[in-house]
Amino acid sequence: MEISIRTESENDFREVENMVREAFWDIYKPGAAEHLVLHKLRKSPAFVPEFHLIACDDGKIVGNIAYSKAYIRNAGDERFEVLCMGPLSVLPDYQGKGIGGLLLRESIGRARQFGYRAIVIFGNPGYYRRFGFQDAGNFHIATSDGHNFDAFMVLDLSGNRLAGIEGRFFADPAFEVDEAELDEFDTSFPPKEKHVTDTQLK
Ligand SMILES: CC(C)(COP(=O)(O)OP(=O)(O)OC[C@H]1O[C@@H](n2cnc3c(N)ncnc32)[C@H](O)[C@@H]1OP(=O)(O)O)[C@@H](O)C(=O)NCCC(=O)NCCS
Repeated sequence: MEISIRTESENDFREVENMVREAFWDIYKPGAAEHLVLHKLRKSPAFVPEFHLIACDDGKIVGNIAYSKAYIRNAGDERFEVLCMGPLSVLPDYQGKGIGGLLLRESIGRARQFGYRAIVIFGNPGYYRRFGFQDAGNFHIATSDGHNFDAFMVLDLSGNRLAGIEGRFFADPAFEVDEAELDEFDTSFPPKEKHVTDTQLK
């Protein structure tokens, strides 16, 4: 296995979406929605194509990490731009080999270089804490509807760029997926059976 990382090009779109679908299939719900989220995100002005990294094993696409612009809105209605990370995916056969970590570290480095203030994610704290992500509540940042929970995390890219910034977090509408839209989109991929699994309960 020889993993290389590069930015995505248009020719990769379909293979990447199928890979994302495979990675997320049955993990958080029966089936998956993240391939449609990515499909919609790419069309959004919030999408950051230069940060959409893919991992390849000798030409085969085995992982990706995507970013979009999002914002924190404070009580005075001021908006502060941040990056939202996701989806992050690695093909099941390639998981646990450091590829997710590689994609995260490379993209975090780029985001820092480009001067972004912070990265916001919804993900498993057991995985993301090792990369420096902390509970969003530590920064007095809540979800758009005012909630905080373990999976809602923030990485301040320079240690103090979030000083004085607090409020609610708003991601791109591409993350909202309608079931009918998803069913329709899914018909363009190979048929795949959906299952209820233990991971969906977490
Ligand atoms: C999550 C994911 C991207 C990680 O990529 P990966 O290449 O498998 O991860 P790495 O090899 O870099 O890291 C492996 C470590 O992460 C841990 N890990 C992997 N997925 C995890 C998860 N969902 N929750 C907690 N820990 C996780 C492994 O236990 C392992 O821990 P260790 O180093 O202490 O042994 C990949 O497993 C995946 O695509 N999962 C399905 C889709 C998904 O859940 N995406 C993330 C949504 S937030």
